[in-house]
This record gives sequence, C-alpha cells and structure tokens, in this order.
Amino acid sequence: MSEQVTIIRMAEICQLIHQYNHQYYVLDEPSVPDAEYDRLMRELLALEAEFPQLKALDSPSQKVGGIALKSFSQVTHQLPMLSLDNVFSPDEWQAFVKRIKDRLKSEYDFSICAEPKLDGLAVSLRYENGVFVQAATRGDGNVGENITENVRTIKSIPLRLQGSDYPDILEVRGEVFMPKASFESLNQQAIKKGEKGFANPRNAAAGSLRQLDSKVAAKRNLAFYAYGIGYVGASEANDDEGIDETWLANSHYQRLCQIKALGLPMCPEVKLLDNAEQVENFYQDILQQRDDLSYEIDGTVFKVDNIELQVQLGFVARAPRWATAYKFPAQEELTLLEAVDFQVGRTGAITPVARLKPIFVGGVTVSNATLHNQDEINRLGIQINDTVIIRRAGDVIPQIVSVVIERRPENAQTISFPTECPVCQSAVMKAEGEAVLRCTGGLYCQAQRKEAIKHFASRKALDIDGLGDKLVEQLVDEGLIKTPADLFKLTELDVSTMERMGKKSADNLINGLLVAKTTTLAKFVYALGIREVGETTASNLALYFLSFDAIKLATEEQLQQVPDVGVIVAKNIVNFFGQSHNIEVVEELEAIMSWPVIEVKSDDELPLKDQTFVITGTLNQMGRSEAKAALQALGAKVSGSVSAKTHYLVAGEKAGSKLTKAQGLGVAVLTEDEMITLINA
Ligand code: IVH
Repeated sequence: MSEQVTIIRMAEICQLIHQYNHQYYVLDEPSVPDAEYDRLMRELLALEAEFPQLKALDSPSQKVGGIALKSFSQVTHQLPMLSLDNVFSPDEWQAFVKRIKDRLKSEYDFSICAEPKLDGLAVSLRYENGVFVQAATRGDGNVGENITENVRTIKSIPLRLQGSDYPDILEVRGEVFMPKASFESLNQQAIKKGEKGFANPRNAAAGSLRQLDSKVAAKRNLAFYAYGIGYVGASEANDDEGIDETWLANSHYQRLCQIKALGLPMCPEVKLLDNAEQVENFYQDILQQRDDLSYEIDGTVFKVDNIELQVQLGFVARAPRWATAYKFPAQEELTLLEAVDFQVGRTGAITPVARLKPIFVGGVTVSNATLHNQDEINRLGIQINDTVIIRRAGDVIPQIVSVVIERRPENAQTISFPTECPVCQSAVMKAEGEAVLRCTGGLYCQAQRKEAIKHFASRKALDIDGLGDKLVEQLVDEGLIKTPADLFKLTELDVSTMERMGKKSADNLINGLLVAKTTTLAKFVYALGIREVGETTASNLALYFLSFDAIKLATEEQLQQVPDVGVIVAKNIVNFFGQSHNIEVVEELEAIMSWPVIEVKSDDELPLKDQTFVITGTLNQMGRSEAKAALQALGAKVSGSVSAKTHYLVAGEKAGSKLTKAQGLGVAVLTEDEMITLINA
C-alpha cells in the first residue's frame, strides 16, 4: 500500500471507530457487531505499528494506554473549576431559593436543571478544533494535574468530537467515575490476589486516575458524564473573532444537550424542572432509584438553568450562588468497635458480629455489623477499640469498610475466635477450603435449633402465620419445642399460658399451624433448611424427582443431574438425609404434612424449557414472584443475575445495572407487556 492510500485507509478506520464508539457508549445503540469493531481495531493497530509516523493524535487505538509517565505535570485552568455548596433538608433548600429571589429582587419562578451528584472526580477536558488534547483534575480549582494520558483511555470519552459545529476551543467539565459493576469486579480480583481492594468506587476512580501508567488506567473501566462547560473560545489563528459565545445556548440544560450532540456522555437522569417546587420530587425519585443506578451518587445537584440569571447571581468564594448540591444522608460514618460477639447460625456457622458505638448512618442508627469470618477480619486488619468506617447503603446490611489505623488506641485488642461453640460448647471446626468456623453440635445446639425452626416457619418456607422469630425463641427457651415437628404438637393451652401470650395470639398460631400442614413439595424441601438448598434448588429438586421419597433416597450422582445442583450441594443433601436426628424429624413431619402430587408436563406444555430469564426493575401488572412462578410453570429457569447464559432480561420500571449489563452482553430485553404476551401465548 502506498503511503497515500495508507493515510486514507487509516483516517477512514479512525472515523468509523469514532462513530461506533459514539453509538455504543453515548447513544446506547451499537450499529455493528463486536467482531466487526474488533476487526477494524486490529487493522488500525497493524497499520499504526507499520507506519508509526502516521498515527493520529486522536486515534481510537490510544484507548489502550501509552508509555508510563514519571510524574504528572501541572495545568492552570483557563477558567477556575468551582465547587458546590450543600443543602441537606427541605428547609435549607427553601432558604437557598429565597436567597436567589432576594438577590434577583424577583418573585418569579425559574427553571432548574436537576442532576444526580455523581460520586467521582471532577475533570476538565479540552478539545481544540474538535480533537481531545488535554484532561486535568480540579486540584485547588486554579491549578490541577495533567491526567490526559489516563483520561484518553476512558472508552466513553471521544477523542474527536462528532460533527463540525463546535468552537475552536471547548472545555467540557464533568465527573470521571467507576461504575458499580466495574468496581465490584475490580475488588473481587484484588481480593482473589490477596490485595486490599478499594473502599468505594470513588477511591477506585481516584486511584486509577492517579496511575502514572495509563495502561493500568485503561484496564479500570472508568466512565464519564459531562455536567458543564468551561472555557470556550476561538483559536489564536481566529483570534480576531474573539470568544465564540454565540455557539452557546442560554440554558444550562440546552448546553448539556449541545455537548451531548458532540458525542460526550450526559447523565441520563438529568432533567429540566419548571420551578423550585419540583425539586423535592426529583430528589426523592433519585433517592429511590439510587441502588438501581449503575453508578454511585451521593445526592442531587440543582442549577438555575438560565445563563443570564447565573451571571447575575455570580459566585461566593469558590462556589456559584446559582447552584447547590442537595445531599443524601451520609452512607459512611466513623464509629468505635466496642466488642465482637459470636453468633451461631442455622447451619452452625459461627459469625463474628461487631458491636459498635451506635451511629446514625444511611438514615438509620446502626449498632451491629457482621464481620463475616476470620478472613474478613484479617483483610480489614481490625481490632477491638479501633475506629472504623461503617457504611450502610440503601437497604443493604451495614458493613465495616475499613479501619482508621492512625486512630488505633493503646488498649486495642486482637479478635480471637472461640475454640468451642459459644452456645452449646460443642467442638468447632473449619472444613477444608472454607473460611467459616462451624459448631459441630447440629440440632443439639440450641442456637441451630432456633434458627432451623425460624427458617422452617419463614415466609418463603411454610409461612406459618402467627409464628415470628421472637415467639420461636421463647418456645425453645421454655422447652416447649426442640424441632420443627414439635411445633405441630403444641396445644392452645401450651401457648396461651406462655408469658406475653393471650388467647387470641395462641388461636392465631394454632390456626397458622393447621394451614401450614398443607404445602408444596418444593416448599417442604426448602423448609428443611438443608445447607445451600435455596428456593430455586428446592423447586428444581421437586420438579426432577417428583416425590419426597425419591429425593431422600437419591445418590450424589443422581442429585447432580438436577439443574443448579453441583458436587457440594449434592453432598450436603446426602449428608442431611444420612443423619439419624434429621431422619427422625423428617419422618415425623411426613406423617403430619401433605402436598399435592406434581403433574408431569410434556415438552409441548413447557414452551420455555431451557430458557433462562432474569427479572429486574418494578413490574406493574404482576408481582415478581408471580411472574417468576408463571415463567417457571412454562419450563423457564429464572435466575437472579445476568450472565452470558441469560436468554431474556425482563426489565420493569427503573431497571438499573442488570439492564445495562444485559445490553452490554447482547441479551434480549423484554418489557413487562412482552413477558405477559409470552406467558399467555
Ligand atoms: S457542577 C459550578 N454538577 O461535586 C459548579 N458538580 O461538590 C461545578 N459533582 O467538584 C460543579 N456531580 O466533582 C456539578 N452534576 C454535577 C455534579 C458535580 C458531581 C461534583 C464535582 C464538584 C463537586 C462539588
């Protein structure tokens, strides 16, 4: 190929890859299969290796990272990068609005651009004549660090702007962040390698941008959303035209749309609100969606939309008067680890539980957190009396994120595990390859007995009305029951004479027990509480073996034929039925309980056989479990997580990271209506 032809071909490939990147990362509408993309990229890499002098500054190949730097140089921002003030309550928000109206001497409403407050790092991107030339951190607002090489590797940041309608010089301001899914997988890899991992996606993003070797940053899967514009101007060659203000819209929201049209990603949740009244709704909406969003946020941001009003309002110190963050309650706080207790679970697992100095975090007061096991304690390097960072995100159980080593007091004590069961004093043991310490007492252990009965009565198992956890504890403590089967021997007199129990509650329980005697085979198997036999496995076992006797007598090999049952689960099942104390209880239960015979369906009646579904988001017309049962009745498998093996994702309202993942994997996505049509077909 002559050099001329090569130049043309390289430019052509660059142009195509830029276009495909834009379609994939910004528009969410890939137009070519991955294989075609990869082919073009390989061709470009080969040409660039052969003709390095022809490699363009904005070549998409640069997304893989370049030569490592010795240090970051400094960048002086042409316009300072500002910060935001915060409000935390409706009253503080009202005060913010009043200050604006007072200053503008106006009672008029104004439009507001409403945005999530992304939890990453502020970055300024500079484009000259449409080509990405520089990226800088905020630093002190005036001078930041030159992180161009790392930012170049971020897949969703275009190295060349789309179209041709842009100013000679354009600075785009926004947040670099690490999506939750990338953070999780990065940390899992780190933990596998025995490394510490990052405390949260923000630290992971910061750590990645601070890498001097951009090849490392390239592997970190960072992302970017634009939320503003910095310097805009004409190049020196066009200097006589002055700053190109005419290009810019007079609305902040419109400006974001302008930069989106140039190929920069804009957060999809951004909304233009008519007035300050709508702010509270937006805040609540985003707070609701928070856990389902694919990226971490710590609040919302509200900006006066009209740029002329912004100019009139101006700045105080480092923050604009026309914008504020409206933050969510903190999800991370500092507190003291006062003690560690050990709890014995249903399967004998001994779990260390941190007793914390009560702390208000994520909207509730937290005084306990699980420490999981010895490995987790080692990983955290935690000691009693340490100051710890505690995190409570959404409805997730509180976690200890890390220890503040600098605050370790002299009386800090290492955490030692018990050498016998703290409840029944039986021996404890750790199975090979397991991190968990277990009590060997089985149902002799009062703690295991209580947990087994609670599980038996729980909603997804036999759903025994009138039998809550507290009552189970009381019944065991008072010696009235030892096993799930004993429940059915209780009389009204037994129960009504217990402390804090009236006749009505006793009636309730006796009636609940009567109803619970009739169940399904799947629920009965699940209720037994065999290790690692969850609802899905129990239902698969029932469908495969059709009778309880067949499950009881199955060998490990036979059990492994059941979907979802591997070597370990098969062993657990055989072990369970091999223990005489279990068999005694099971036989008693079989004599008391009943379930309908399972009808065997032919393949014609199972049109969704071998199809795997995942359901996410809110369904409006049927409950999740109803949808799951309807799909399973047609032979479908319903799984909790999206993988390459998923056939369909049913995406309800406000679907979040599972939807993004499914789209990334090319999994077919169904709406709720489409799923219903499929079920009724
Ligand atoms: S605007 C002129 N918008 O919050 C105002 N900032 O606490 C400049 N941030 O340094 C910032 N999401 O890193 C703006 N939608 C958003 C944001 C946002 C996150 C960060 C940004 C900034 C910090 C200020």
